[in-house]
Amino acid sequence: MPQSWLRLSVRAGAADLDAVSNFLIERGSPGVVVKRSGIEAYFRRSRTDASLKRAVHRFLRAIERLDGHRRKLSARWKVFAEENWHHSWRRFIKPQKIGKSFWVTPPWVTPPKLRRREVITIEPGMAFGIGSHATTRGCLEFLEKAAGFLRGKDFAALDVGTGSGILAIALAKLGARTIWAIDNDPVALKVARENLSFNGVEKNVHLSGAELRRIRKSFLLVVANLTAETILGLADALAQKVAPRGFLILSGILHEQVRAVTRRFGTEGFVLLRRKREREWVTLLFKRK
Ligand SMILES: C[S@@+](CC[C@H](N)C(=O)[O-])C[C@H]1O[C@@H](n2cnc3c(N)ncnc32)[C@H](O)[C@@H]1O
Repeated sequence: MPQSWLRLSVRAGAADLDAVSNFLIERGSPGVVVKRSGIEAYFRRSRTDASLKRAVHRFLRAIERLDGHRRKLSARWKVFAEENWHHSWRRFIKPQKIGKSFWVTPPWVTPPKLRRREVITIEPGMAFGIGSHATTRGCLEFLEKAAGFLRGKDFAALDVGTGSGILAIALAKLGARTIWAIDNDPVALKVARENLSFNGVEKNVHLSGAELRRIRKSFLLVVANLTAETILGLADALAQKVAPRGFLILSGILHEQVRAVTRRFGTEGFVLLRRKREREWVTLLFKRK
């Protein structure tokens, strides 16, 4: 029996695209395609379809209530069989050049060979981090920058909230000697393990569900793409993990939350070197004094 799928089409304005796509990824869609006027997301059909639909509709109504939205976010569901699946969302996921160092690609496409670009292959699945989100891109660009500052040094790195493992893979490709990657979601850990292995870097990465506070080591490079709330909650633990004159990259921060984060890490002895904004998302690169 071919697997059948649900296709959800949501019409939404630019301001809501990130929130809606994040939610659908969190609800387990392996294929979320963001278009100019909305989003298409694909879900494997299962016995929980009814509760998925209810959760999506509740979320869309909650978004509509925010900031006095006037426009309705409309949602349409369609069922279709496996054979159509390959011709639908897959064709929208293309290899992307990120920064000066990377191609991020799904496994079914071979990106053109370009000198000096490392290929990171990510199977779009149940974890965040296929390179299409502003925060992942911001982290990849700043990882490249920080690794440039550390060139010639033998450095270890920590990836907090590894999701698909994309940043840990990038760190391995940028020459980190060892990488610690943690996530508190067992599904993300499973997906990350597969992606690390597919990219041939599983030996360089210690992947685990360890709590940040339980890690006793310090690192010359730490990256955390979480949310501002989580980052502030973990600020002392994150700061402690960065070795003197080491680098800290933080993302998942909304534009209006940047000041609170920079102030907090200022008090922890960090200097802000760079910030990058893409739409409402900001990525910060700090150096520890
Ligand atoms: C936005 S995703 C980032 C994924 C990937 N690093 C990227 O940049 O695309 C955040 C990830 O952090 C994980 N996470 C959230 N809070 C965490 C915590 N306190 N400790 C470890 N992982 C956490 C989530 O499960 C999720 O996989």
